[in-house]
Amino acid sequence: MDHHQPILSFCMTCQDGHEAFHEDIRGGARLAQAFLSHIGAVQRHGFTLRGVRCMSQCKRACIVSLCANGRFSYMFGDLDAAAPDHVVALSALIPLYLAAPEGFLRREVRPEPLQARILGRLPPPGSASDLVTPLDEGDPAHGMFCHV
Ligand code: FES
Repeated sequence: MDHHQPILSFCMTCQDGHEAFHEDIRGGARLAQAFLSHIGAVQRHGFTLRGVRCMSQCKRACIVSLCANGRFSYMFGDLDAAAPDHVVALSALIPLYLAAPEGFLRREVRPEPLQARILGRLPPPGSASDLVTPLDEGDPAHGMFCHV
């Protein structure tokens, strides 16, 4: 694993309620498999894939996260292993993430299926983003209103 590459994590244990129709294979595992099948047909480089057993957002299955050193971290939910546009959106997200300063992607820049399905967006340690206000310096109320 290259620790400098972005990491796309799939929750392999997310359940989507369709397991009985898929030999008890979890929805998250099916989503990961669908993604692997998709990127098998296109160039794959510049990121690492991993499976995770639960990312503590089980009620919003299926869950995928994206993170990298020095970049924003994202968590997405309500993803559907049977929705090709969700898989394509995840693959389209990575080059956008790599190209953006600190990997910061506004809602309208993300592929459509990943706009409303965002569950979290965390700035990296030491972020230069103007979204971040150091609370241990000066007036903590300055710049605290969310505009994004
Ligand atoms: S089982 Fe997927 S987030 Fe918990």
